[in-house]
Amino acid sequence: MIAPSILSADFARLADEAVAVGPAADRPGSDWLHVDVMDAHFVPNLTLGLPVVKSLRAATDIPLDCHLMIDDPDRWAPPYAEAGATNVTVHVEAAHEPVMLAKNLRAAGALAGLAIKPNTPLDPYLEVLRHYDTLLVMSVEPGFGGQSFIPEVLDKVREARRLVDTGHLKLIVEIDGGINADTIAEAAEAGVDCFVAGSAVYNADDPGRAVEALRDTVRHSAPQRWEG
Ligand code: DX5
Ligand code: ZN
Repeated sequence: MIAPSILSADFARLADEAVAVGPAADRPGSDWLHVDVMDAHFVPNLTLGLPVVKSLRAATDIPLDCHLMIDDPDRWAPPYAEAGATNVTVHVEAAHEPVMLAKNLRAAGALAGLAIKPNTPLDPYLEVLRHYDTLLVMSVEPGFGGQSFIPEVLDKVREARRLVDTGHLKLIVEIDGGINADTIAEAAEAGVDCFVAGSAVYNADDPGRAVEALRDTVRHSAPQRWEG
């Protein structure tokens, strides 16, 4: 799956920017649209919130993948599920009761996602992850688009992949940060299912074609995963 991040899009034209990566006559389009919500507390940046997500939901058909980089997601995340987001991801570093939160997100009709920052280990959260549908491995420090990929996080991807493939966990392994034509192949080989790409898509001349180019690279670098 490819999930363009609108963090690098033109915020004055969000509906058009969503359509630009959607389906067209010659391509399937993006699987999800990644929406980065930042509160200027959990991360040192401020983006958009629930009203914009509601408007995007009404203006487009593409499934929304909301990545909440906010404090107190236990309180603020469920409304994003109620607003129709397909996947709502919260940070393990910010959640107070992540198991309860996952249940609340699912009860509100969304997939529940858990994000981990580059320096956050995976092992302490393996039990918690049994309650989640997606694991978002951050491959940059959250807060800004256009940063360089941190390859060391791929060890966590490999570990998650192994646990999914052996039936110990059942979730989508997602990666976010610094994914582009140069880095997506190694992420695919490590076992990523869903690739978030912001600047690599929206800084391209044709964002829709950029999505398909990334998809082709995955298809060629990890064909067995693609078919699985
Ligand atoms: C960063 C965000 C990412 C960001 C990725 O905190 O979570 O989703 O948009 O941007 P690129 O792909 O440019 O690293
Ligand atoms: Zn993100």
